[in-house]
Amino acid sequence: MSVNVFRGRSLTVIEDLSIEERRYFFKKVRQLKDAILANDEATLDLFRIDDPDFGIYEVFLEDSTRTKESFRNAAKFHHAKVSELMCSSSSINKGESYADTFNMLSGYSNTIFIVRSKVEGLCRYLDEESAEYTRRNSLPVKPAFINAGDGKHEHPTQELLDEFTFLEDNGMDFSSLHLALVGDLYHGRTVHSKADGLKVFDHVKVDLIAPPELAMPDSYVEKMKENGFEVRAFSSIEEYLECGDIATKWYFTRPQLERMGERILQKQDELRKSITFRREFMDRLKEGTKFYHPLPRHKEHPTIPTFLDNTSLNAWERQAINGMYCRIVLLSLIAGRIGEDYDGPVREKRNIGDEEYIVSVDLSKRSKEVKNYSEGVHPIDNGIVIDHICKGDSPSEIRAHMRLISSVLGIDEGRGGEWISRGADGQYKGIIFRPGDYELGRKDLKRLAAIAPKCTLNIIKDGKVTEKYRTHIPPRIYNFDDLCCTNDACISHPSQGEGVSPSFERTPDGHFACVYCGKFHTYKEIWKRRG
Ligand code: NCD
Repeated sequence: MSVNVFRGRSLTVIEDLSIEERRYFFKKVRQLKDAILANDEATLDLFRIDDPDFGIYEVFLEDSTRTKESFRNAAKFHHAKVSELMCSSSSINKGESYADTFNMLSGYSNTIFIVRSKVEGLCRYLDEESAEYTRRNSLPVKPAFINAGDGKHEHPTQELLDEFTFLEDNGMDFSSLHLALVGDLYHGRTVHSKADGLKVFDHVKVDLIAPPELAMPDSYVEKMKENGFEVRAFSSIEEYLECGDIATKWYFTRPQLERMGERILQKQDELRKSITFRREFMDRLKEGTKFYHPLPRHKEHPTIPTFLDNTSLNAWERQAINGMYCRIVLLSLIAGRIGEDYDGPVREKRNIGDEEYIVSVDLSKRSKEVKNYSEGVHPIDNGIVIDHICKGDSPSEIRAHMRLISSVLGIDEGRGGEWISRGADGQYKGIIFRPGDYELGRKDLKRLAAIAPKCTLNIIKDGKVTEKYRTHIPPRIYNFDDLCCTNDACISHPSQGEGVSPSFERTPDGHFACVYCGKFHTYKEIWKRRG
């Protein structure tokens, strides 16, 4: 019997499913929807979990109508055990950690959790954390976690239903997509999931329509470009309509007032105007245009006005209905009821590499390089010299970063000093020299590479450089006490109090993405600042 690769899998971000897995998913949704419309009970039974003891648990720590209710109705389709945590009266309010709360619930025969929260990366963390609990307590299965929206981060099941609806309107054709994203692209997690989600289409063109205050964060734009999408940006619908090459699929998102600061809220009318569709725009749309929206829309200030409800533009209602079909299929896959016939690749993993990033330099050819230490370094008999720090940055940036390096490496108490020099190429670089007895182990070198990539470390004994290392940018940075994600909504941020150890992975453009919330950082930004 073949293995079902979907069984027990969590969906924390859209990339947790490979492109081929998502395409398989869409075909299954098509099948299910056709069976529902045709009342074909025999086919529907093939999808049904049909087990009153199979526990599906909804935990919504943030408001929801569609996501929560479509999941609940999907779970009922399966004749499964459906529960909901009453969050406002749970022990989370007594200071219990998420790990303790969810582990406990999984002990009560619950196999799939559907979780919405303001805390970004919560499901990814719970997925890791629950493995140990399951083992410790000999539970028959490790639970799976479905992210039903985490802060401003992702909303992978919305992404699946959005794409299914685009595909429905494309005749299930994956070859290309031209999509306009209109609205609050800064706070909207549904549009953030599109940066990886739209990869299921071979050729993608995305038009971003938002005033600067609500613009798509750079890290998602960067990701879209890395994924080969053509990306254009416009500050209003009016400006977009002037460009001549407008999409036939428009995806609107609501201005998320609840996530905005005072400064932006003061300008809400003006901002809303630039992303609200108006009657006078109607005849400038292309034939066959469809509007989509994850909903809700605001009753007094809808960006898709209600006079459009009865027009052929309206795809948002069918999109919301598709939500339940998509969620029925997702539950069926994770429960292992369907999916055994899938034989494609599993989960797209970013190839971040695992090359050696601390390289020992052959000292037999070093004579030329030693001469370079002319600025106060040579007199050291015993000690360390870290050279080529932050090459190319400004002197003040280099100085600030050298202070951080000293404190992170724990060498700030010793003798010696810091130096900034300017090379023949006109670029500045930093040098830290510390006379004294320093024993740097592998962990210290890793720490050095993480905080000062592209530097050299010289270990000097009896006036001679006895060891020399060059550091490169590490593929992963984790397991250091003084790391910190800069996003205070991230599960790993100290203010969340969950004790989650921060972890970062290198992106193709040399940033470090937090593995939980996805936020991009430079190597300088991922360290706790002291004092
Ligand atoms: C969205 C959400 O919660 O992210 N709604 C949804 O799930 N259908 C969008 C929103 O809140 O505006």
